Order: sequence, then C-alpha cells, then structure tokens
Amino acid sequence: MRVLLHGATGRMGRAVIDKIAADENAVIVEKVSPDFEAESEDCHFTLDGCAKEADVVIDFSNHASTKTLIDYCVAHKLPVVVCTTGQTDEEKAYIKAASATVPVFYSGNMSLGIAVLQDIAKRAAAAFPDADIEIIEMHHNQKLDVPSGTALMLANAIKSVRTAAEFVIGRHEYGKRRKEEIGIHSIRMGNEVGTHQIIISSGTETITLKHEAETRALFADGAVVAAKFLKDQPAGFYDMQDALK
Ligand SMILES: NC(=O)c1ccc[n+]([C@@H]2O[C@H](COP(=O)([O-])OP(=O)(O)OC[C@H]3O[C@@H](n4cnc5c(N)ncnc54)[C@H](O)[C@@H]3O)[C@@H](O)[C@H]2O)c1
Repeated sequence: MRVLLHGATGRMGRAVIDKIAADENAVIVEKVSPDFEAESEDCHFTLDGCAKEADVVIDFSNHASTKTLIDYCVAHKLPVVVCTTGQTDEEKAYIKAASATVPVFYSGNMSLGIAVLQDIAKRAAAAFPDADIEIIEMHHNQKLDVPSGTALMLANAIKSVRTAAEFVIGRHEYGKRRKEEIGIHSIRMGNEVGTHQIIISSGTETITLKHEAETRALFADGAVVAAKFLKDQPAGFYDMQDALK
C-alpha cells in the first residue's frame, strides 16, 4: 500500500511514519506539511508538490486544510482517511459530499477500543432511558478542539438511541440539569493522550464506562488498518465500525 501522508511533521504524522516503517506491506511515498524546514523529493509544503502515485491518503493535519485536501483527493480519485478533527459543520459536509466520488473514511477516533465503547454506551443508554448521562474527556494541553471529536462521537452514538438528547458543552449557567441534557466536559492537562469517560446514573445505580489511550501509536495503528480497508472500497462514507465488520 502506497500512502500519501498529510500532516507529516505533527505528533500523529510522526507516529504514522514509525508505524509504516515497521510494516512490510505499506510505504509512505509522499509527505506533506507546511512545517517542513525545506522541500525535498518526497517532502512537500503543499499537496500540489506531490507527483508520485499513491493508493490512499492518511490525513492527520488541521481542519483548515479540509477543502484543499478533499479537492485534491477528488481530483486524483484518491481514497482518503480523514483522522483530523475539529471541522466546522460546513467542512464536515464537504468531506461527506466527496464520498459520492471517492472512498472516504472519517472518524473522530481511530481506536478500536472507542469503536467498542460506542456500542456499549448505546446499549447502556437504551437500557436506562431516564438516566442522567455525562461525558468527561481529558487531553494534553496542546489540543485545539473542544470538546474532543471522540466525545462528540460518543455523544452522537448515545443520541442515536436517545433522540431528544441535547449536548451541553461545559455547563456553566445557573439552574438545574434538564433531563434531556448530555453534559460534555473537557479537561486539558500535561501530556494526557486521551481519556473518555461516560457516566450513566439512574439515581439508584451508576455505570461508569472509561477508555484510556496509553500511547498515540494506537491512533496510527487504527489509521493504517483503515487505509488498508479503504483502498479497496468503492466510493462511500466509512468509519471504524465498517472496518471492523
Ligand atoms: N481521529 C483520531 O483518532 C485522532 C487522534 C489523534 C489526533 N487527531 C487529530 O489529528 C490532527 C493532528 O493531530 P496532531 O496531534 O498530530 O497535531 P500537530 O499539531 O502535532 O500536527 C499537525 C500537523 O498538521 C500540519 N498542518 C497544520 N496546518 C496545516 C494545513 N493547513 N495544511 C496541511 N497541513 C497542516 C502541521 O504541519 C503538522 O504536520 C488534529 O486535528 C487532532 O485532533 C485525531
């Protein structure tokens, strides 16, 4: 598998480089980042510099590049694994629209454990339709998007079985918690890789579901699994649940 890596100088880009270096069935043919010190044969400041053939794009960059990235993938008929988070609704719609033309994999969390957690959270929320549900997420102090894409993914999974749910991000106003609220709370500290906790309380019993990412390498593992899955798919919109089937 020949990979074009978008966002190659970042924390996650470097983790993907390490992962693919140890994979005899994959190779990175082009790397893109505006933060390279200089351009070279396979390191480019922008996608326009890329000339080698690739089978798939892995993107761990910044949502500001959404349109440029998607336009490039559509123009070159390239499957794209979008791992970047923090997109606006408009940018998300742009990514989704591209899936009519090329295979698009989009997930706020590339972890297998989070995909399993989504299923368990849905089941618990359905079993306790009147329970209070709160989500707490914790990440390193350099993270830009609030709340995390994963917290929103988990909240949306719960909303799929609790359709009246309303997300309250960082509750601060005076007044009682409303029944339909799902509170989402973000903690930013140190080097925390990523912890997500879902607390479901009926008033007589409480379930606490918790996922802890121990190293960023797990997201690179997931991105490579996703890329290997995606490169052979027809145009469409995919996530980790599809790759696990
Ligand atoms: N889906 C997941 O599982 C998952 C996991 C970890 C991180 N992320 C997301 O991936 C993204 C990158 O995370 P990171 O920790 O590597 O960030 P980072 O800040 O360390 O690296 C960002 C990379 O993107 C590049 N970049 C910045 N702006 C760009 C632009 N306009 N065009 C092209 N490249 C650009 C930078 O040069 C750098 O290489 C973030 O959105 C983060 O939230 C997602």
